[in-house]
Amino acid sequence: MKLRLLLSGFIGVVAILSAAVSRADNIPDLFLHDGLSLNGEWKIIIDPYESGFYDYRHDQRDLSANPSRSETFYLDAKPIDPGERIEYDFDTSPSLEVPGDWNTQRPELLYYEGSVWYRRKFDFAGAGDQRVFLRFGAVNYRADVYLNGKKLGTHVGGFTPFTFEATQNLKKGANSLVVKVDNKRSQDAVPTLATDWWNYGGITRQVKLVTVPGKFIADHRFALESETTRQITGLVQCQGAARGETVKLSIPELGEELSAKTDTFGRAVFQFVPAQLQLWSPETPKLYDVHISFGSDSVTERIGFRTVRTQGKQILLNGKPIFLRGICIHEEFPLNGNGRVKTPEQAKQLLLWAKELGCNFVRLAHYPHSEAMTRLADELGVLVWSEVPVYWTIDWTNTATYENAQSQLSDNIQRDGNRASIIIWSLANETPVSEARTKFLSQLAARARSLDRTRLLSAAMEKHSKPGAENVSCVQDPLADVVDVLAFNEYIGWYDGLPEKCGKVTWEIPYNKPVFVSEFGGDARLGYHGGKDQRWTEEYQEDLYRQTLPMLDTIDGLAGFSPWILVDFRSPRRVLPGIEDGFNRKGLISSTGEKKKAFYVLQNYYQKRARAGNGVIIDTKNEVGSKTTEVSQ
Ligand code: GCU
Repeated sequence: MKLRLLLSGFIGVVAILSAAVSRADNIPDLFLHDGLSLNGEWKIIIDPYESGFYDYRHDQRDLSANPSRSETFYLDAKPIDPGERIEYDFDTSPSLEVPGDWNTQRPELLYYEGSVWYRRKFDFAGAGDQRVFLRFGAVNYRADVYLNGKKLGTHVGGFTPFTFEATQNLKKGANSLVVKVDNKRSQDAVPTLATDWWNYGGITRQVKLVTVPGKFIADHRFALESETTRQITGLVQCQGAARGETVKLSIPELGEELSAKTDTFGRAVFQFVPAQLQLWSPETPKLYDVHISFGSDSVTERIGFRTVRTQGKQILLNGKPIFLRGICIHEEFPLNGNGRVKTPEQAKQLLLWAKELGCNFVRLAHYPHSEAMTRLADELGVLVWSEVPVYWTIDWTNTATYENAQSQLSDNIQRDGNRASIIIWSLANETPVSEARTKFLSQLAARARSLDRTRLLSAAMEKHSKPGAENVSCVQDPLADVVDVLAFNEYIGWYDGLPEKCGKVTWEIPYNKPVFVSEFGGDARLGYHGGKDQRWTEEYQEDLYRQTLPMLDTIDGLAGFSPWILVDFRSPRRVLPGIEDGFNRKGLISSTGEKKKAFYVLQNYYQKRARAGNGVIIDTKNEVGSKTTEVSQ
């Protein structure tokens, strides 16, 4: 069980925090603790028939009392005598780099969906009276983890971290860590069978072995309650702590040196009003070094303090209206093979392209991106929409599916609860309206609010046309009553008519909530040129943006948008030869990292928005290349 530090919202802190429960057997995240990196070369066995897991009767060796050494891969066995039949050998098998998807590392694995066994050997000097954990940043999709032939656990979900305790199974000297990774899609999974992105399999983020004292810091959450009172509330969760033990908090730049005592659950609560506090914002992404110590353990995290809330149709950051100049981003890097982002440098490049575009906001689609990405967004001053992959036709009536979605949401909030950049938790994308779906998502919304009331909730809904009035666009979705920010995807000019339709459309969105257009766009193959009516050309995409922007400005309560998408990305659904070739081409940047003409249309618009200030309507009728008149609201 992972640590579920239910740090409800900070409003009415102590009364609510008592609801937060942390049980002694929970496993914390430990991202901030130093450890032995297990990144690098891992040996692999490609196992589409899962013969390393099931016998020829398809019975799981995993459960048998004495698994056969000959074919049970997680034993990492070697022949004891010349006559023994061992039908695998990691040492002489191929290898893969961790972190990294397998699809873009080996040509034969580009489309592979199945199981791959990973094996990493490492030496360990011994833990003494300390505890040792294995932390995985992410494994897509299911991971079965074995240490020295013993099962540590199974994790399902491809984009959130998980940690297993290794203390009892470690050996002094050589150890064998084996992970069975299975990326097969299934109807009851999250996401489900159909997605419009590549099903990258593998150990796609960092792996490390973390050693902590018997009494250690398991989790913490800090938040600014109000930009006027400037009160900061913090909660530190310790493990191995008795009631009344001292936890210290130090924020040197704020001159704060505080201590608090643990309660019976091992939690220490801090509340303080710093004399001088610079609020975090895209313009001033101020982060403070927050040092926490408990016994012989200590962690440091860089945290920014800001508030976000809605007021009628506006989003307020630190009490002031803000317009979200966004772009959608998949966790894929366009150079060296177009695979999953695997280094902080690649993540940073994506954010720098977004900033060059004029963005103050990114929608990290359609799943939690890496810890590096959200920490870089803190550093660079880019607001974030963070989403779980409840995407399209999820198995709404399946309890296990709901538990899976809830677990991914909880893990995402636990992992990134201290990220100033994240202002929106998104529950879903383009899910078809039904009673079961709305019940599922309403339950998920309640869960999110029980974990974090310091951020806004949204979901990318679909827009509809008013019955009998094709050019009147609206949102007819009961989920609109549940979320804080009313967001929807629209594809007028690509899936819905041609770009000229934009000039005919009016919008009816009768909600007193901020409106956010979470997707629009169209495909263009870089370097394919023609008339603006020639689909798939850069000119078509450019015209679609020119027609769309003025249309969006007519939406009452428009608080921002995030066009689909910053960079072309791989999708098995996109098969048009010479144009798509396995890529979705809606990027403003191509799969080779080059900007298309539409990039500059949006950049021009965002530059005008930024000059005009947040929450101000500007006239985009005379878009791009000609003088525009900017009028204040
Ligand atoms: C959908 C979906 C995206 C998809 C895009 C497209 O809105 O949210 O994941 O890639 O449209 O069709 O290009």
